[in-house]
Amino acid sequence: MKIQSSGTAAPAAMPTPETIMQIGSGFWASKILLTAIKFELFTLLAQKGSLSGKDIKASLQLNCTDRHFFDFLDVLSSFGFLQREGLLETAQYSNGTDTNTFLDKNKPSYIGGILEMMNNRLYGFWGNLDEALQTGNAQNETKDGGRPVFEAIYSDPTVLKEFVNAMSGIQKGNFMALAQQFDFSDYHTFLDVGGSAGILSLMVAQHNAHMHCTTFDLPPVEPIAAETIQNFNLSERVKAVSGDFFVDPFPKADIIAMGNILHDWDETTKVQLIQKAYDSLPEGGVFIAIEAVIDNERKVNPFGMMMSLNMLIETGKGFDYTFDDFNRWASQAGFKSTKLMPLAGPASAAIAFK
Ligand SMILES: C[S@@+](CC[C@H](N)C(=O)[O-])C[C@H]1O[C@@H](n2cnc3c(N)ncnc32)[C@H](O)[C@@H]1O
Repeated sequence: MKIQSSGTAAPAAMPTPETIMQIGSGFWASKILLTAIKFELFTLLAQKGSLSGKDIKASLQLNCTDRHFFDFLDVLSSFGFLQREGLLETAQYSNGTDTNTFLDKNKPSYIGGILEMMNNRLYGFWGNLDEALQTGNAQNETKDGGRPVFEAIYSDPTVLKEFVNAMSGIQKGNFMALAQQFDFSDYHTFLDVGGSAGILSLMVAQHNAHMHCTTFDLPPVEPIAAETIQNFNLSERVKAVSGDFFVDPFPKADIIAMGNILHDWDETTKVQLIQKAYDSLPEGGVFIAIEAVIDNERKVNPFGMMMSLNMLIETGKGFDYTFDDFNRWASQAGFKSTKLMPLAGPASAAIAFK
């Protein structure tokens, strides 16, 4: 064997099919987790503590063979989503730490809304990624009809509720991080444009006792936001206002936020919304976009790029963007300076100062 002397280049890594197989079969793993969430398995185990496979199967009213049900539970255990003591008939299953916190429907920390929507809507739509790339057309409820995306989604109250819960699930950690990390001391009023259930306004108000917040969204969303505000007991400082952000003036505020709004639209519309925010802000005001901002080299945030493809599936023309893109649009609108604040996981706040 030839020993490499120091100073020479390291040998090229041997090719391995491991990543190819892991990602290629990734939908198996994804569907196993999404199905467990659909069955509310983690909510059941959070209530009961630990259960045998037989008791879980009876509770969930499943008719597969015991062997296949143990496969399902044991693969969830091997992923770390369940804990297991014993084997097969003698085994007792309980939640893993993460699933107990984030996938128990009875806890406020539940983030399963986005995963429920991934199972019920996106899983099927992503089956047509090839067609989306071939045609450039959305593959969701708007695929065969001419209705705009939010009209199509909101025409069914179940899908509306699921969509709003999904938005809350994917953004809650980011909103909490922004509410705690951003220095609100120089500002008094906050507006969240396209604020869905109002979670961002609620987090800002909860962590900053001097702030008054408004969450602004389309009329079908307002009752859901109003109910959420009431549940948080923050009606004195958070209000829900309905309107159309393309038509109606923005309610006045020192800070205007848009969470996962810009990525829904093409570049012209993104620029139009940023300009509208700029025009509506006072001197010294701030605009904040909260999204899975892609790194400028487009290398290390695959989630941001997958989210961008998700916008192809959902809207056809929408796309996620880099901080360089944001800087260009913000300076074009007239903003003086910008900064990027990392939030939870792959998301950041792109912040522009007037
Ligand atoms: C992708 S969701 C993002 C929700 C939330 N900001 C978040 O970060 O999770 C887009 C939001 O924009 C709202 N929206 C879409 N078009 C709108 C319009 N023309 N006027 C007001 N809100 C609109 C939708 O109802 C939805 O709540």
